[in-house]
Amino acid sequence: MKEKNIIITGGAGFIGSNLVKQLADTNHVIVIDDLSTGHIKNIQNLIISKKIEFINGTITDLELLQKTFRNIDYIFHEAAIPSVPRSIKDPIKTNAVNVQGTLNILIAARDNHVKKVIYASSSSVYGDTPTLPKKEDMKPYPLSPYAVSKLTAEYYCEIFTRIYNLPTISLRYFNVYGPGQDPASEYAAVVPRFITNVLDGKSPIIYGNGEQTRDFTFIEDVVNANILAAESLSTGIFNIAGGKRISINDLALLIIKQCKKDIEVKYQNPRSGDILHSLADITRAKDKFNFKSKYSITEGIEVTIKWFLKRI
Ligand SMILES: NC(=O)c1ccc[n+]([C@@H]2O[C@H](COP(=O)([O-])OP(=O)(O)OC[C@H]3O[C@@H](n4cnc5c(N)ncnc54)[C@H](O)[C@@H]3O)[C@@H](O)[C@H]2O)c1
Repeated sequence: MKEKNIIITGGAGFIGSNLVKQLADTNHVIVIDDLSTGHIKNIQNLIISKKIEFINGTITDLELLQKTFRNIDYIFHEAAIPSVPRSIKDPIKTNAVNVQGTLNILIAARDNHVKKVIYASSSSVYGDTPTLPKKEDMKPYPLSPYAVSKLTAEYYCEIFTRIYNLPTISLRYFNVYGPGQDPASEYAAVVPRFITNVLDGKSPIIYGNGEQTRDFTFIEDVVNANILAAESLSTGIFNIAGGKRISINDLALLIIKQCKKDIEVKYQNPRSGDILHSLADITRAKDKFNFKSKYSITEGIEVTIKWFLKRI
């Protein structure tokens, strides 16, 4: 992608900042982020070197969005409160950002004739139905306010395409991991939590018996999927994933082995709202915009551990 005017909401966060880094050299990129879970350090160099513009603002501010979206080609919408436990504690806040915030993005995008909105949806919309792999046309069963909010925002995207001719595409990410993911937050994702624990010589904590499985997706594959999705004519809903699954027990063992440590895992009670098994069918994204997952879990974890080692 070249010489486009791009907005990345949530661009100081894990996925957003990786997208920013990929697009900043050849495009005009504006980041909108309220720094609630993201960190300015993720994009500091690009701000200082004036390669990107940074707006410390919230997607709940429709007036700000209306002003900023003038002459914009693409919006990569990553901003959200991205946590199941946080949504259970405070569903009103999750709804305000994930649903109302997305509706604001769509209204401002429609009014400013944006070429396409690429929305970060989530595999959590599938819930805990036994059928695997998950396909986009299956009936969703959200199990948490977070999953309801991601699904509702998807519906808004589809409705804006249908009613107002605003091209939108929803990418249902499956457990994204990689360099730049925050291990410090109370709600940190499993991969950065395990890696930092193991590198510190501590036991990784597994919620439940560890036999739950996940389809982990390396960040570079997600960044690539976003660019392919923006450039394609496709609209609608697409799974974005590695396309293979691994149990949390095996993930812990892989990380312990790759960190060359001799550590036992510890177990705690399962968390409410967590699903048991997850695996994506990625055929639709492959057929429609040639998405391929290039990283196996072993390769992705190796790159991620190296990144964390550099930061110790
Ligand atoms: N990481 C995953 O495995 C995963 C899986 C499925 C979907 N997603 C989705 O991908 C997106 C990015 O997730 P992430 O893992 O990078 O999380 P993250 O917390 O690192 O990034 C989210 C960013 O949004 C910003 N933000 C939050 N509320 C905002 C607001 N009101 N206005 C402006 N900015 C705001 C945060 O400060 C942060 O920088 C989210 O929409 C999330 O739901 C992530």
